[in-house]
Amino acid sequence: MSVRKRIKRKKEHILYSLILENQIKRDVFKDITIIHNCLSEVSFENLDISSSLLSTKLDIPLIINAMTGGFEESYYINKALAEVAKEKNIALAVGSQKIAFKYKNARQSFEVVRKIYKEGIIFANLGTDCTIEQAKKAVDMIGANALQLHLNVPQELFMKEGRRDFRGTLQKIQEIAANLDVPVIVKEVGFGIAMEEAKKLVNLGIKIIDIGGYGGTNFIKIEGMRRNIRTFKFAKWGIPTAISLIEVLSAVEGKADVIASGGIKDGLDVAKALALGAKACGIAGPILYKLYKHGKKSVLKYIDDIIYELKLTLAMAGANNLKELSERPIYIGGNTNKWLKFRGIY
Ligand SMILES: Cc1cc2nc3c(=O)[nH]c(=O)nc-3n(C[C@H](O)[C@H](O)[C@H](O)COP(=O)(O)O)c2cc1C
Repeated sequence: MSVRKRIKRKKEHILYSLILENQIKRDVFKDITIIHNCLSEVSFENLDISSSLLSTKLDIPLIINAMTGGFEESYYINKALAEVAKEKNIALAVGSQKIAFKYKNARQSFEVVRKIYKEGIIFANLGTDCTIEQAKKAVDMIGANALQLHLNVPQELFMKEGRRDFRGTLQKIQEIAANLDVPVIVKEVGFGIAMEEAKKLVNLGIKIIDIGGYGGTNFIKIEGMRRNIRTFKFAKWGIPTAISLIEVLSAVEGKADVIASGGIKDGLDVAKALALGAKACGIAGPILYKLYKHGKKSVLKYIDDIIYELKLTLAMAGANNLKELSERPIYIGGNTNKWLKFRGIY
């Protein structure tokens, strides 16, 4: 695909994700309730919300998830996101860096994040169709702490110009992970990961999985809008975030760290994901929306609100830290409960 077409596609992804963001409910943890603790003895000031991914400490368990890069406008988006990540001390992922291998000028839109966030936790991003050489270059380009390898079969299938041949994906993931000096994060983009595939990934030695569940940004809908085609019932294709998170956590049995993402909106969502056992939460669409509609200040406030709401939840659950939060009993109702019973998880 030509560079011009690739840039046009990226711009359209942003445009349609912004249009759709207003229509998404983002209620992915509605079936999950953290049981209230009437005897909470915490001190709000002393709550510890730090977490970790492998051996890397996260002072705040939040990630601005992969979105963009490759053209002028995305330089300013990534710059603003890096400034937010730096000010709030949270992790940040860039969008797919594939374009930077075809178009040298694209590099600066990725490099800017490391220039700004010198000491920060930054993730590189590519699809599984990249070569080992490209994976290494993507990591070097931004001095990344890890490489996100995204899985997006439904999106590719709904793109006219998308991939149609996915053979060898698992082997590719294994080869890349074995040849990098930094960890690989295998990441879905909004259709979720099931326990069967999570087990395969862990057996390959993958140590971090971002479940990227259904219920937030929807790339079947976005591609449908780009092409002005009907997506029929496929707009509902995918494993809902809460379910995918629990499936993956049960499958990896502590052998991999799990990131929750897909439809996460506020601090209570984040708290529920962490209570279930996630190590961190990724958010993409709402951050881009706030940045476009209301500017960087509103993104900074949004992150503050999420942190505050997370702390409120800890305090009401009587948890001093995320470990105690993860030990708090949880009620699982609705479709999530039925699904997990059917799958033999609960
Ligand atoms: C405009 C846009 C572009 C994206 N581009 C990428 C990408 O290049 N690579 C990737 O792994 N995920 C990409 N994503 C997916 C997000 O990282 C995330 O997995 C997904 O949007 C679900 O999270 P959300 O519901 O919080 O948006 C993109 C998302 C958006 C909104």
